[in-house]
Amino acid sequence: MAQLIQSIRGMNDLLPEVLTYWHALESVIQKIMMNYGYEEIRLPIMESTELFSRTIGEVTDVVEKEMYTFLDRNGDSLSLRPEATAGCVRACLEHGLLHNATQRLWYSGPMFRYERPQKGRYRQFYQIGAEALGFETPDIDAEIIMMTAQFWEALGLTDQIELQLNSLGSVAVRRNYREQLVQYFKSHQSALDEDSKRRLGLNPLRILDSKNPEMQGLIANAPSILDYLDEASSKHFNTLRQYLDAAGLNYKINPRLVRGLDYYTDTAFEWVTEQLGAQGTVCGGGRYNGLVEQLGGQATPAIGFAMGLERIVELYKAKQASVQSKADVYLITDGERARYEGFLLSQKLRKALPDLQLIMHCGSGGFKSQFKKADKCGARFALILGEDEIAQHKVSVKFLREEKEQLSVTFEELVNVLK
Ligand code: HAM
Repeated sequence: MAQLIQSIRGMNDLLPEVLTYWHALESVIQKIMMNYGYEEIRLPIMESTELFSRTIGEVTDVVEKEMYTFLDRNGDSLSLRPEATAGCVRACLEHGLLHNATQRLWYSGPMFRYERPQKGRYRQFYQIGAEALGFETPDIDAEIIMMTAQFWEALGLTDQIELQLNSLGSVAVRRNYREQLVQYFKSHQSALDEDSKRRLGLNPLRILDSKNPEMQGLIANAPSILDYLDEASSKHFNTLRQYLDAAGLNYKINPRLVRGLDYYTDTAFEWVTEQLGAQGTVCGGGRYNGLVEQLGGQATPAIGFAMGLERIVELYKAKQASVQSKADVYLITDGERARYEGFLLSQKLRKALPDLQLIMHCGSGGFKSQFKKADKCGARFALILGEDEIAQHKVSVKFLREEKEQLSVTFEELVNVLK
């Protein structure tokens, strides 16, 4: 026998059973996006490598070690997208969407990062995200955050997810803070782990994101960026807080929240849960006021977020009692002729009732095994077509989930029953 080929590590098949949850979740989220006036954009899963190195930052885990990068047949360096913000900004610039205009956009799809796979962390994972471009004032920050809060509410997850909020200030603020941070960590150099020593010279803010338990005391005593905000950043942050307070949203200020991508300015936020172990961040985002200009556009303020669908599905699944049924109706036939008539009846029924989920029994099988299948797929009705029914131009309807007597009906009556 030929050897079986396995999927690539960290890249999962999503089977029909679990996709019922995905569909329910995606439709809730998409509805809310529309409710807030966000429009969908679809972006390629591959971009020029330079797009990511220029935006996400050369000295980030994502660009340093996690990108799937290769040369195409032309010798051009391409990368599978590790995230979609850079691609979204590229697309806006390429199509002139930011000329005297603001944009509220959302996207969904697979992202790729060569991380060490574990529960909640994959090499191909799915995000739904949104980007609001061309808005400067903190009302849009509040809108974006309230929209994410509404996702959790609609999915029944509010009590499991906490909002953490920080401001990373302007580029100038961060440059100043970075110096203070380097000084602080240098004065405790012997307490730094290897990773932090490396980061100290390259990207010291990332030390704050270290998960090493031995580093936590040092990190807790490090200077807080909030003490270094200039007037504009401070005002932006405080106004955002006023909006969120007025909307009654709970959040925790976390001055160590630095995010894993370098393009952030001012507002940064993450929604985290304790239910998923180490991979507890279900959604992350923030402002990136310098990114559009960095990619060759006019200076344009912007903010956005993305959520990891695998993680949210995991939370959502635990809340649901059982998987919904796959079908409303299962059509059972007896004999060659009935199978032929059943096929035609199914076609007619689907046309008459486009929302109906009808499974026609295909292939052989006695009544008993067909009824078993009807039951297993969760159908409410079994339609039965045998010699007698055909002779009378009728169909028998058996109620599988209710104590009701079996019916014998014409096609017109059947459509009414199933409506
Ligand atoms: P991010 O924090 O890198 O931000 O990713 C957003 C979310 O994607 C994370 O909070 C997590 O739920 C999920 N995620 C990330 N990596 C993995 C993985 N390896 N496996 C499973 N889930 C994962 C961004 O991607 C930014 N583009 C968000 C953004 C949009 N900022 C502004 N606009």
